Amino acid sequence: MTTPDLVQELGFRVLDEEDDDPVLLRADGTPVDTWREGYPYGERLPREIYDRDKRLLQIELLKLQYWVKRSKQRLVIVFEGRDAAGKGGTIKRFMEHLNPRGARIVALEKPTEREQTQWYFQRYAAHLPAAGEMTLFDRSWYNRACVEHVMGYCDQEQYEEFMRQAPEFERMLVRSGIKLVKLWFSVSQAEQQTRFTIRQIDPVRQWKLSPTDLASLDKWQAYTEAKEAMFHYTDTEHAPWTVVKSNDKKRARLEAMRHVLSLYDYTDKDEDLVGRPDPKILGPAAQVLE
Ligand code: ADP
Ligand code: MLT
Repeated sequence: MTTPDLVQELGFRVLDEEDDDPVLLRADGTPVDTWREGYPYGERLPREIYDRDKRLLQIELLKLQYWVKRSKQRLVIVFEGRDAAGKGGTIKRFMEHLNPRGARIVALEKPTEREQTQWYFQRYAAHLPAAGEMTLFDRSWYNRACVEHVMGYCDQEQYEEFMRQAPEFERMLVRSGIKLVKLWFSVSQAEQQTRFTIRQIDPVRQWKLSPTDLASLDKWQAYTEAKEAMFHYTDTEHAPWTVVKSNDKKRARLEAMRHVLSLYDYTDKDEDLVGRPDPKILGPAAQVLE
C-alpha cells in the first residue's frame, strides 16, 4: 500500500469537482479507471442522468416513507459490503430528503465491554424500528460474519454460532411483521485500493480511512471467503441477500433505491419510473455478481 508521502511523491491528485464521486489522477493527468474492472458498462453513469433519476427516486422514497408511516409498517434495510464499497454514500442519498422523524441510521461503534457479555444480537435488537419507522443499518449484526471474523475480534465458536443464529434471528423479525432488506455492496479489488488512496490524499475524506481499512488491504481473500460463507448460511428464503455492483457509485445508489422501492406496493407509486432494477448492476446473491 502506498503511504500518503509516497502517493504525493508519485504525483497523484484527486479531482474532486464532483464532490460525491472523486476521481484519482496520475501525475500526467490521466484518470485511474480501476472502476472498469469486471464492470458491465463502458462508461460511468452521466451526471445529468444521475441527478435527474436520483431526485425522482428520492420522491418515491418519500412516498414509501409516508406509506410506512400511515400503514404502521416497520422497515429495516441492512447495508453491508467491504470497506469503501459505498454503503455510507448510498445511505446518505437514501436519507437526503426523507423526514428524519421516522427514518434513522444506525451505525454502532465497536461493542463495549459490557455489550461483549450480552447476547450478540441484543444491541442491534435495541435499534429495531417501531410502527411507522424505517431503520437503515450502516453495518449490522453481520459484522460478526465479516470484519470480526477476519480481524479476529471474535473466536471461531462465536463465529459459527452467529451463522446458526442469524437466520433464526431474522426469521423472528420477519415473522413478527418486520420488513427486512439486506444489501451487499460489491467493489472490485483494484477499485477498493483506488478509493483508499483517495481517502489518504483528500483532506475531506481522511476521517473515513480507519486502521481497520488499512489492515483489510492484504485481507482481500479472507474477506472473500467470509462473504461466501455468509451467503451460504444467511441467504435464506425469508431474508435473502441482494448484491449491488458498486464500482460505479452513481449506478449503485440509484439501483439500490430502485430495488427497495420495487419491493413494496406503496400509495401513489409511479410504477413506470421505479420499474425493475438493472440486472447487470443488482441481483440476488444466489446469482452472485461479484
Ligand atoms: P467503518 O468502515 O464502518 O467506518 P472501521 O473500518 O473502523 O469502520 O470498522 C469496521 C467495523 O468493525 C465497525 O463496525 C467497527 O465497529 C468494527 N470493529 C472495529 N474494531 C472492533 C473490535 N475490536 N471488535 C468488534 N468490532 C470492531
Ligand atoms: C463505504 O464507502 O462503503 C462507506 O463509506 C463505509 C466504509 O467504507 O466503511
